[in-house]
Amino acid sequence: MGGPPVFVSRRLPEAALVPLLAAADVRMFEGEQEPVPRDRLVREAAHCVGLLVLLTDRVDAALLAAAPRLRVVSCMAVGYDNVDVRACTARGIAVCNTPGVLTETTADLCWAILMACARRLDEGRRVVQEGRWASWAPFFLAGQDVWGRTVGIVGLGRIGTAVARRARGFGMRILYTGPAPKPEAEAETGAQRVPLEELLSESDYVVLLAPLRPDTRHLVGARELERMKPTAILVNAGRGPLVDEGALADALRRGRIWGAALDVFEQEPVPPDHPLLHSPNVFAVPHIGSASIATRMAMARLAAENLAAVLRGLQPPSCVNPDVLAASGRGLPSQQPEHT
Ligand code: GLV
Repeated sequence: MGGPPVFVSRRLPEAALVPLLAAADVRMFEGEQEPVPRDRLVREAAHCVGLLVLLTDRVDAALLAAAPRLRVVSCMAVGYDNVDVRACTARGIAVCNTPGVLTETTADLCWAILMACARRLDEGRRVVQEGRWASWAPFFLAGQDVWGRTVGIVGLGRIGTAVARRARGFGMRILYTGPAPKPEAEAETGAQRVPLEELLSESDYVVLLAPLRPDTRHLVGARELERMKPTAILVNAGRGPLVDEGALADALRRGRIWGAALDVFEQEPVPPDHPLLHSPNVFAVPHIGSASIATRMAMARLAAENLAAVLRGLQPPSCVNPDVLAASGRGLPSQQPEHT
């Protein structure tokens, strides 16, 4: 194999890497379930021109300082808070991600956990499987209605809009909040933009899909939880640190809100003794928003295409700091993509 050296930080199916294999000398971490150890990633980065990384890999200033030849970091994820984009830009390194291909799959999962929490599916499953189902009873496992209620979406990007589209099928009122109005998404879904405070106090379901940035860290803490209805459910399918988990565990224990449906955590994997996991009405899954076979293949393929394009001096399908390419004459400037 010839071409510029590239490291892929997790074992991925070769079929997904075809565009990259044709453009680079690819070395791949042999593990599939566990992340590449930090020292190995740094060692590989030291001589590579490109890295294909997952959200479990931290690409920070220290790694970049040890990687003088690096020209592109391609993330197999839409979120890229694990990458110090500013430091990459300063070094002329392109950062790519995989928006679009995971939108609908992630919106599906958002609805799956929202409904599982609202209708107490996990408790129901356990009651049946453990032989504890005594009788039909009037309020046995009675949960919250979804249809006709109000959903508040924090971050009406691609995934948020796909969530809103599904909410229409449930006859829901749809609120959203975010830094800018989204007239197209409003026209498509009937969503109405309101301040965060109003969204929190009006919504039966508060769905977090904002990107994780310094200004969105702990966007929902004790104060915000106090504003929510006692019957409300918090759904986090964005990034764990959007929520102050200590405050959430406390609010659930006190019955301040009704439940939480969580795909993401401040620390992943979440430790089994984490207070949140032992709080009432928590439905938790291990960061599987985009985890359908077809979508994960599409994400791997797009990450490979992005990386191969930069190596070939072409415009990658999705670059989060396109000015780097424009400045170096590699590729054309593209629009700044949205996170989600
Ligand atoms: C998953 O969380 C992603 O950002 O793609």
